Amino acid sequence: MLFSSPNTSHFFFLFTALALWFATNRFRSSYGLNQESALSRRPWVDDREHAFIAPGPEDARSPCPALNTLANHGYINRSGKEISESSLVSSLTSIYRLSTPLAELLVEGGIGTCGHKIERWLSLDALAAHDVIEHDASLVHDNTPLGAAFAPINVNWTLVDDLTAAYPDGLGITHLAEARVKRELMLGDERRPQLDFVHGEIAHGEAAMTWLLMKDAKDVVRTETIRHWFGRETFPDSYVIPDEEVTLWKARGISTKIGDTMIKLKEELLFETKKTALNLD
Ligand SMILES: *[C@@H]1O[C@H](CO)[C@@H](O)[C@H](O)[C@H]1NC(C)=O
Ligand SMILES: *[C@@H]1O[C@H](CO)[C@@H](O)[C@H](O)[C@H]1NC(C)=O
Repeated sequence: MLFSSPNTSHFFFLFTALALWFATNRFRSSYGLNQESALSRRPWVDDREHAFIAPGPEDARSPCPALNTLANHGYINRSGKEISESSLVSSLTSIYRLSTPLAELLVEGGIGTCGHKIERWLSLDALAAHDVIEHDASLVHDNTPLGAAFAPINVNWTLVDDLTAAYPDGLGITHLAEARVKRELMLGDERRPQLDFVHGEIAHGEAAMTWLLMKDAKDVVRTETIRHWFGRETFPDSYVIPDEEVTLWKARGISTKIGDTMIKLKEELLFETKKTALNLD
């Protein structure tokens, strides 16, 4: 009855056509959006302003691959000098998708310990101040020469090669814990003091951030990622700006997991050593 008159059916037709037109437009624009976001999720690929440029002799860099990569791609000033708090927070949230509270906490920590506390900026090289945030037993950096105030900034490629050779299928959480334990044991071999509690926490916190930021779909950090991000300090080919934020809670959860695994591994090693010493086998 309602659609029996030619007029009403005409309206119905128009309405349906309009709805379909809206729908196709919505699909088309969401398709367009997806395409756009796929591109903008690796914006450094097409944008010459954000292409990789290795630092020059005057540029300041840190022992932190995450920040150096941001500088090498111009997401913070390529000079690495006097980087403002807001520039640090906005690049950490937009490129690595750290949540704002996590980014603010890290930047606050960096500026509070190594930066200009009144003008609120940080030069990357200041982060190399030994035993402030920086610590020995880094996965790919040499230890600070005994007595020196600043840690070496350059990556040690022997350490990169050793790390990737030891884990050809990539590093999951347990592998990262194991790699950290190995590096901390090397301190003893070199007759250096062990990491204190705070620097131990920082060290496996960094390993947790590495995993959270750089893991692939199989939940491992690929060797290619280690070579690109830790080594050359550029974005690995597999890296896209993630959809999901890395929150404080996630970071804390994974850091605890790595820390607990490290304690377990160290206990096992100690047990093995005692067994060997007592000839129990
Ligand atoms: C980057 O830093 C350099 C040296 O500190 C400065 O001369 C330049 O103006 C800065 N560039 C921007 C875009 O802030
Ligand atoms: C790099 O690390 C390896 C392994 O610890 C070490 O033997 C070597 O001396 C280091 N290279 C440099 C240039 O410090």
